[in-house]
Amino acid sequence: MHTFVYRDVDLAIAALADYFVVIANEAVKNHGRCTIALSGGSSPVKLHQLLSAPPYRQKVNWDKLFFFIGDERNVPATHAESNFGMAKATLFDPLQLTDNNYFAVNTSLSPGEAAKDYNSVVYNFFKGEPVFDLVLLGLGDDAHTASLFPFTSVIHEQQPVVKEVFVEKKDTFRITFTAPLINKARHVAFMAFGPSKAPAVKQVLKGERNTDKFPAQLIKPIKGEVAWYLDAEAAGMLE
Ligand code: 6PG
Repeated sequence: MHTFVYRDVDLAIAALADYFVVIANEAVKNHGRCTIALSGGSSPVKLHQLLSAPPYRQKVNWDKLFFFIGDERNVPATHAESNFGMAKATLFDPLQLTDNNYFAVNTSLSPGEAAKDYNSVVYNFFKGEPVFDLVLLGLGDDAHTASLFPFTSVIHEQQPVVKEVFVEKKDTFRITFTAPLINKARHVAFMAFGPSKAPAVKQVLKGERNTDKFPAQLIKPIKGEVAWYLDAEAAGMLE
């Protein structure tokens, strides 16, 4: 595990963008494409904007990159809360990507059906083991990641699949990659910025092991590597 701390969020995002470019070009060189699962929430917006503009835009052969959504809210793609909608607005559209290169969760289905459907999309795409080149993850103040929220059933899912989960505290369903699916990835990168994330960062990286309370602790790639990109505020409680 690598933990990288930067003075401010812009420096952290630039470093993560550099990491993204290295992984993307390495994957395309090694196996002709790069498969990426994007994080939702607000943290990725600056990363997407940086990657989709010069000079980063010119550093990657975007046609060879294939994007999935690591977790999705149970809303239409046009809804302000949609993670796909955020990725489309901040990354796919600025890069003029088409749906040959990205895969949205079909949230017009029921949560259970949407999860099954997206699981088929993932497995059909990989035609075998779904080993993502890069999974990008955020971190909630409560140490959730993707939609692996504390004390939810999906935390205990042992299969590398996409599952639906009812999140009591948000009174809503989510569709999410499970930890075993994320842990198959070659590279996993967390991003966490700002003082509100500091307690969760400390608990996940240095605290007692309790994956029900701190689900982000579940993320331990089997063969791959995990890196944390933090600004000084989010890292403020790490010694
Ligand atoms: C989601 C995300 C979630 C997010 C964290 C952090 O759908 O909300 O996938 O896991 O990464 O909640 O969110 P922020 O980046 O907005 O702080």
